[in-house]
Amino acid sequence: MLGIIGGSGLTQLANLDISHREVVRTPYGEPSGPLSFGRIGCLDVVFLARHGYGHTIPPHLVNYRANMHALESVGVSRVVSVASVGGIRADLGPGKLVVPHQIIDYTWGREMTFQSGGDGPVVHVDFTEPYAEEVRRTLLDIAQRIGEPVSDGAVYATTQGPRLETAAEINRMQGDGADIVGMTGMPEAGLARELDLPYAALCVVANWAAGRADSRHGIKFEELEAVLQEAMARVRRIIEGLCES
Ligand code: HPA
Repeated sequence: MLGIIGGSGLTQLANLDISHREVVRTPYGEPSGPLSFGRIGCLDVVFLARHGYGHTIPPHLVNYRANMHALESVGVSRVVSVASVGGIRADLGPGKLVVPHQIIDYTWGREMTFQSGGDGPVVHVDFTEPYAEEVRRTLLDIAQRIGEPVSDGAVYATTQGPRLETAAEINRMQGDGADIVGMTGMPEAGLARELDLPYAALCVVANWAAGRADSRHGIKFEELEAVLQEAMARVRRIIEGLCES
């Protein structure tokens, strides 16, 4: 079964034929909302809205541990995370879709591990390649097959939020090698790895990052919504394509 975590702009999946919803409790508390079980075409899917169905949970307060644990506990075998991001790299402007291959974690103070200490030996998981290549490849292959341009590879800088960045912070992140910036990439990906759940992200560039291009003097929120709406229709088509993969 495929798990899909929808971010800003994707709190629902229009093409998901929902059979039931389930409130799942976990040792880490409650997930962002009930899990929606259903089918997209021939594919069994469970969907979770990362920020809650009413988009009420800010990125730093998402219970990432409960979300990942809940998905695993219902038998999900791979996870696609959909996330909106700001574009730093020159070819990643608003409306672009990208499947990142690397992460830099600038978040702090989040519950970012299932290891709470004292309950067994410390385990260090390998995180050299933070995303599962087979899930990345599947997304990219589908996009190519249906003629949807998606960039292969980007370094995803995860910031704490909920405020957006300063122009200087974006300059620093670019100096570090970041191509896109978002607020939810971590600890989600790290927790998926701890659970050994194959995980990849499909990111939608909603805006130029602070200080870049038409965000030079500020990010215009009015335009962001329209970009996301249009791009999410393309995301849905790619997810539908997973059915044949
Ligand atoms: N910065 C951080 N997170 C984001 C952005 C951004 O510019 N756009 C969408 N999510």
